[in-house]
Amino acid sequence: MTRRLFIACALPPSVVSVFAGSFTVTYAGDGPPLSTEALLAGVAGHDALVVTAPTRVDRALIERLPPGVEAVATYSVGHDHLDLAAAKEKGLAVFSTPDVLTDACAEAALLLMLGAARRATEAIALLRDQRWTGWTPTQLNGWEITGKRLGIVGMGRLGRAIAARARAFRMPIHYHNRSRLPADLEGDATYQPSLEALMAVSQVLVLACPGGEATRGLLHKERIARLPPGAIVVNIGRGSVVVDADLADALDSGHLAAAGLDVFDGEPTLYPRYYTLPTLFMLPHIGSATLETRNAMGQILVEGLEAFWAGGAPVNRLV
Ligand code: DGY
Repeated sequence: MTRRLFIACALPPSVVSVFAGSFTVTYAGDGPPLSTEALLAGVAGHDALVVTAPTRVDRALIERLPPGVEAVATYSVGHDHLDLAAAKEKGLAVFSTPDVLTDACAEAALLLMLGAARRATEAIALLRDQRWTGWTPTQLNGWEITGKRLGIVGMGRLGRAIAARARAFRMPIHYHNRSRLPADLEGDATYQPSLEALMAVSQVLVLACPGGEATRGLLHKERIARLPPGAIVVNIGRGSVVVDADLADALDSGHLAAAGLDVFDGEPTLYPRYYTLPTLFMLPHIGSATLETRNAMGQILVEGLEAFWAGGAPVNRLV
């Protein structure tokens, strides 16, 4: 029997084809995220629901899922939008897309570091507003990241992939994680036992940790104050990790030289001061947005669902 999938999020056509190659697919289309009622009506008669980060699959929604829905597959590595405990209680299997977007997100983290350090927001505006009057030695001088101490919050797959790239910039790597990495994964990186200790050494700080309650507001004004003057902050994880007003204050005061953000609390609505800060380099959550990665994300979900229904133990099953 071919399993039936309800895809409730917009996906590139090549990814819809990947799903359709293995399952009978109902695709909700490229519009905005579905309302709860539209999603519940759409998923009726299907075996699995495919969503992505903006759609909250909370306890209330899970309890209302129609009988017959056996699995939820999130087209994302982050899963702070899913209530895993409620899914487990309901007997739902949940799948995500680990590993396959690590390289794309690590590349984006480097783009944020460089874009912030080299004042890309101001540089692009100068050209696009047709205000550029020609090269001078005083124009838009930024900072090099080469040789600067890099602090990474969250040394999972993504943190380690960022570290690997930062080594090419001769950046000494420091990190804080829930637990210290084994020697083979740690390499030459220095474990800092607390976030406070990490802040004190980080000339460039990269947040590469998951979202959710455990990390909400992790970067607040007391911790920002511990960063060396002129530090650069980058967030490639989740917007909820940063206290927006505290980051904006530190950019305004000049304590932070610059920041690069790909993710925002409450996105797509941004903290309004962010639009006005010249030293803030922002991207609209494009960390994993490459065609290679998009296809690989579809493929890993297909493989996980196929293995689940074949009675196997897929590596990308969360509960
Ligand atoms: C992810 O996969 O978690 C990306 O950030 C998209 O939400």
